[in-house]
Amino acid sequence: MSTFIERKVALQAVNRLLVLTRISVWLVAGVVLCLLIFATYFVAFPDNHSANIEGTNQPDFSWTVPDINSVPNSHEGDLIRYGEQLIRHTSVYLGPRGKVKPISNGLNCNNCHLDGGTKTFGINYSGVFANYPKYRNRSGTIVDVKERVNECIERSLNGQRMQADERELNAMAAYILWLGKDVPNKVTPIGNGLKQVPFLDRAADPVKGQLVYEAQCVVCHGNNGEGLMKAEGNEYEYPPLVGDHSYNQGAGLYRMSPFASFVKYNMPFGADYTNPILSDEEAWDVAAYVNSLPRPGKDLAGDWPDISKKPFDYPFGPYADQYTEQEHKYGPFKQMIAR
Ligand code: HEC
Ligand code: HEC
Repeated sequence: MSTFIERKVALQAVNRLLVLTRISVWLVAGVVLCLLIFATYFVAFPDNHSANIEGTNQPDFSWTVPDINSVPNSHEGDLIRYGEQLIRHTSVYLGPRGKVKPISNGLNCNNCHLDGGTKTFGINYSGVFANYPKYRNRSGTIVDVKERVNECIERSLNGQRMQADERELNAMAAYILWLGKDVPNKVTPIGNGLKQVPFLDRAADPVKGQLVYEAQCVVCHGNNGEGLMKAEGNEYEYPPLVGDHSYNQGAGLYRMSPFASFVKYNMPFGADYTNPILSDEEAWDVAAYVNSLPRPGKDLAGDWPDISKKPFDYPFGPYADQYTEQEHKYGPFKQMIAR
């Protein structure tokens, strides 16, 4: 009798051991699987984990520019087509001599959002439909597409914001959203925004940048960066880079990295990311030169309410780190972003 009970107890112990072993095998297998998934993710999307400026995440979605001729003849279609005209010829409608109303500096959205907001790494609008409304660290608020357009009007066009029900604002938003309509939710297509120009080991140098400007930019943008107005007088042939009619100090291009990245892969006019003309050094130095010259100011008191979220190249303190305004303006940025 006692041997029977002893055997039963022994058997139960063995059973328990077996169950425990099975559980541990499953646990180990689970952990290994998780590690494998993580590893594949890091290998497949290394860019997602490096220094991040807005618009540089590039999951593997390639965007095709939709055909404007496919826009139907409807009320909505008319709004989209009007929006395209406003983006390409903003100044004709909203510039200092604009036929709708004079609320901006004479730049066209198209001067920076090249080819009607469709050029690869020319700040195209491919990601807007899929990603707005979105939280923006600059304002510390959730921003929809119309608010984002107003931000560029107030900063890049140094102008006055429009009301949410104004036809021109709705038309620009409709066109921008239509361009990205086939992009899946939250995806940022390849070629969106700007391509980050590689960082230098040294600070960007305005003195060297002046030489680059004279050799590569003066022919179009003018001796003093004043640009060239078309004969009709309502839109620029070559937009200004400096002075009262240029973007203000609150604009994205006033920061070294967006400027250098825009210019490296888009300027002199005709360059693109497959055929850059400037070296990395030239791009950074010309950014330093142009952004050391005078331009309109802007009340930036409400910007970057969480100072730890300020971009490395934001030239106005206070900062959450030990670097000075001068260092945050011109660099060197390499060790700054490695922190
Ligand atoms: C002087 C250059 C410049 C001009 C002119 C300009 N923008 Fe921008 N815009 C920028 C920059 C720089 C960004 C930010 C790009 C980035 O961070 O990748 C931007 C971002 C945007 C975005 C957000 C894009 C995104 O993918 O998140 C929208 C929408 C936009 N601009 C609309 C406009 C409209 C509409 C106009 C004309 C009324 C305009 N912009 C004029 C420089 C400009
Ligand atoms: C062949 C003429 C040409 C040359 C050379 C040229 N650009 Fe441009 N640039 C343009 C044109 C045209 C646009 C507007 C594009 C459009 O609307 O399609 C522009 C737009 C820009 C813009 C954005 C709009 C603005 O006014 O802020 C910047 C910044 C810029 N260029 C910088 C430069 C720099 C820096 C150089 C020299 C490295 C340079 N460009 C050389 C023709 C030129």
